[in-house]
Amino acid sequence: MPIQRNQPSPVGEHPAGMAVAVIGTGYVGLVTAACLAAVGHRITCVDRDRDRVAALARGEVPFHEDGLTALLAGGRVAATTDTASAVATAEVVLICVGTPDRDGAIDLTALEAAAAEVGRSLTGEFPVVAVKSTVVPGTTDTLVRRILEQESDRLAGRDFGLAMNPEFLSQGSAVADFMMPDRIVLGAFDQRTAAVMARLYRPFPAPLLTMGLREAEMVKYAANALQATLISFTNQFAALCEAIPRIDLARVMEAVHLDRMLDGPDGGRAGATRFLKGGIGFGGSCFPKDLAALSWWARRRGIELPLIDAAQAINTRRPTQVVELLAQALGGICQKRVAVLGLAFKPGTDDLRESPGLKLVGRLLARGVEVTAHDPLPEVRQRVRAMHRGAVLVTETAAQAVAGTDAAILATAWPDYRRHDLANGMRRPVLLDGRGVLDGLEMPDGVTLLRIGTYAPTTEEP
Ligand SMILES: NC(=O)c1ccc[n+]([C@@H]2O[C@H](COP(=O)([O-])OP(=O)(O)OC[C@H]3O[C@@H](n4cnc5c(N)ncnc54)[C@H](O)[C@@H]3O)[C@@H](O)[C@H]2O)c1
Repeated sequence: MPIQRNQPSPVGEHPAGMAVAVIGTGYVGLVTAACLAAVGHRITCVDRDRDRVAALARGEVPFHEDGLTALLAGGRVAATTDTASAVATAEVVLICVGTPDRDGAIDLTALEAAAAEVGRSLTGEFPVVAVKSTVVPGTTDTLVRRILEQESDRLAGRDFGLAMNPEFLSQGSAVADFMMPDRIVLGAFDQRTAAVMARLYRPFPAPLLTMGLREAEMVKYAANALQATLISFTNQFAALCEAIPRIDLARVMEAVHLDRMLDGPDGGRAGATRFLKGGIGFGGSCFPKDLAALSWWARRRGIELPLIDAAQAINTRRPTQVVELLAQALGGICQKRVAVLGLAFKPGTDDLRESPGLKLVGRLLARGVEVTAHDPLPEVRQRVRAMHRGAVLVTETAAQAVAGTDAAILATAWPDYRRHDLANGMRRPVLLDGRGVLDGLEMPDGVTLLRIGTYAPTTEEP
């Protein structure tokens, strides 16, 4: 099937709403449901987690994502544990269940179960089943298709449509990403499927690319791998700059960024440079597990992906390098007291999966450091307290976390941490800004600010 590009339709031009079932109400499923409802579709969400469905029925959003609560207010989206009832009336079924990492491979157990339940429930004339979960190429047109056909006793392309529609939202800005996507990618089994999916996305002002199922699956991995590689590329230079006095990575990259090749689509500076910034590494539920799955899947086909493996290896080393940078600045770190500010993997979310901040906490504890920690979200603080059972003092405020410490590491770019007085009350005011939160902010005299990608001179003990 040739790649097709639809022109963006004007915002606000809503077609007649379609009946949609969304299977899985995690970050992707619930954001998808809320945003599709916001443009006029009729949505029923399904989750096998009864507590989650009950919470949704009470109008509670089970996790933190900016703008989501407002979008779900007023009971716009129905929720149930009953896949059959939701699928029976749906024109489109979007499968959004998790595809986590299992020993470096992709775990498709939840997808298989969801596909079987959807298959058993397929009725009506040509409902379209679309996989939105991230899956290795070939999954939709082999595994998912086989399960759907077996369980429904129907044929793909004749009795139901089959699509692969990868999701590119980023946690923390998921609602905005979904409402104003850079592009919508539609892998479609056939033209009829493609037409139904195009109708679903008509209200969204974005280029719509229609392609084969495997290509759509591959787009998602290629996009994630590119971003992760850019981050690791920059962090490799960060580590090098940190080892050499009188080089500031930020200045080096500022010069690199001025290459027009890296411009955003508007000719502005928002393009690839967003990922060419030193930091403490990437985390979250996607990059680490998607890179692992891609590499595992390629290896099984006899193909090595050394660039992808290196991007992962560099990222794995990054928290240790950051702790080393701090140790160098403090003249040793054992028995020091260090605060970690920001525990979720990025601002605007409560997701702790593969969080670099938590990795720092682990590395610091392993080095005999007394660790205090803070995150602006109460639910995050509660979970980290439970996770570390007293080994880490998780405080209600950032000021309490830094009080009496030898250093603080800013691990998440929460704007809350961008304050002149952040180091007030510290025993030794050393701030390691892992995310550039304090960039351009004048800090009071006496505060040592360690920036990523710069050499850290040893600071004096008070
Ligand atoms: N989180 C992201 O930022 C993001 C972005 C793009 C793509 N993705 C991909 O989207 C998929 C979902 O990610 P997520 O972060 O939303 O996952 P998640 O783990 O937050 O949520 C998955 C939900 O699916 C439910 N579920 C599992 N099996 C089910 C079944 N048979 N029937 C009904 N519900 C079921 C679970 O109870 C859970 O609530 C993954 O493949 C992920 O890689 C995630």
